[in-house]
Amino acid sequence: MYKIIQVAGWVRTARASGKEFMFVEINDGSSLKGLQAVITKDIEGFEAISKVTTGTSLQLKGTLIKSPAQGQLFELQVSKTDRGHGVKILGTCEGKTYPLARKGHGLEFLREKAHLRPRTNTFGAVTRVRNNLAFATHLFFQTRGFQYIHTPIITASDCEGAGQMFQVTTLLPEHNEPIGKVPTVEPPKEKKQKKKPVAAAAEGEEQPVAAVEEKKAPEPFHAKKIDYKKDMFGKPSFLTVSGQLSVENYCCALSDVYTFGPTFRAENSHTSRHLAEFWMIEPELAFATLQDNMECAEAYLKFCLQYVIENNLEDLKFFEQQYEKGLIERLKNVIDTPFRRLPYTEAVEILEGLIKEDKVKFENKVYWGVDLASEHEKHLTEKVFGGPIILYNYPKDIKAFYMKVNEDGKTVQAMDVLVPRIGEIIGGSAREENLERLDKRIEECKLDKQAYWWYRELRQYGTVPHCGFGLGFERLVMMATGMENIRDVIPFPRAPGQAEF
Ligand code: 4AD
Ligand code: MG
Repeated sequence: MYKIIQVAGWVRTARASGKEFMFVEINDGSSLKGLQAVITKDIEGFEAISKVTTGTSLQLKGTLIKSPAQGQLFELQVSKTDRGHGVKILGTCEGKTYPLARKGHGLEFLREKAHLRPRTNTFGAVTRVRNNLAFATHLFFQTRGFQYIHTPIITASDCEGAGQMFQVTTLLPEHNEPIGKVPTVEPPKEKKQKKKPVAAAAEGEEQPVAAVEEKKAPEPFHAKKIDYKKDMFGKPSFLTVSGQLSVENYCCALSDVYTFGPTFRAENSHTSRHLAEFWMIEPELAFATLQDNMECAEAYLKFCLQYVIENNLEDLKFFEQQYEKGLIERLKNVIDTPFRRLPYTEAVEILEGLIKEDKVKFENKVYWGVDLASEHEKHLTEKVFGGPIILYNYPKDIKAFYMKVNEDGKTVQAMDVLVPRIGEIIGGSAREENLERLDKRIEECKLDKQAYWWYRELRQYGTVPHCGFGLGFERLVMMATGMENIRDVIPFPRAPGQAEF
């Protein structure tokens, strides 16, 4: 049994074996392993073919046979026959300068070569896992009846209220034009005023009231305000930090929905867990409680991990070998163990207890009301519980305005899923569906009520209890692969000072 096939890809290794034939391993990115081809010298152009180096793109036509040698099940025999075998060099690759000519480059070096790194084993594997996590996401929600909603990228509202938004504007002049071209708001014209007498000149002397016209000094440049009415959208607009507020509108009409899109945060974080541009999956559940939300989040995470175990096992074995010992076992543990759920207050008490007993030291203080730092979150999930946990009922002062306030008046129905090595992977909450209470929170958070008029109307016209969460997609890829830096799980990372490629 044989089969004639045509394949194309990039040469990983090429070596001659004497003068009679050569071995080429070719990879097209569809799997970790490439295809070995044995090319004999009777093939047209063998002279040039025998000189190909790593990175060359080739098209091969040959016979797929059971490999007589160890190391691969099949190999491609390319030799002169009457079946049209042949080799076509599509693009040569200069070995002297090709950055990937040698193996074993560090991840940092590869970040500088983000255009070529997808050709490495690591980035091929990351990309395939990422692809399947995206597919698993749609599979999970679609089979549960959630509708996929495309929420806008450009928005005028700050969902998280954290002021970490990138502005979108067409008002800025070209880079070599003067800044004075930016339209500004004219100061309101003041009426001509009669000048009051300055001060009596000398005692007893009458000073006539001079009808001097007050000359207004030109507005100093630094005090000028930009005229956003002249901007593209007629008001300040930004790249979205979350699709949540928009997707809530659809939740309050189509019931369970989700959005999966790019989100942007202008936080100046130089950590291995933050990007300026990342992808977020945000389901929104109608007629649901915080408990439902937690169940959905846990089931979704587990589904995704199970999916890559079933569909990316070869890649996961590679990660296990190269990056994280015991990776697959860890993933299976996550899938098999219920996530421990505990209130924020209890988590703080646990940490306070450990500090008191001198069992742990943190850089950041721990007290009720603190926004837990990554070191606290990691300690809880890694050391105290040894697996994913869900914290809920956070102090309202550290959470966004839209979260449902508990009866204690101090906490909100928020939930964060924390996982070892990463910390927070999911953040969500029940939404405040009561207009009065929502308005109170908008005021407390010093937000502009008018800007949220449409969001408020959802509470005015047939409000329903609903909840949702956001999962940082890159953090999920980190969790599934064992990769430690978020910049290595997205094709082209965007972080402070980094927008190349
Ligand atoms: O906790 P966050 O800020 O929640 C929201 O945006 C809500 N509106 C979600 C919702 O309820 N629909 O962000 C959600 C998740 C985080 O848990 C984290 O995984 C990820 O988004 N994330 C980031 N990932 C990479 N880089 C950043 N700068 C991130 N900021 C948040
Ligand atoms: Mg959060």
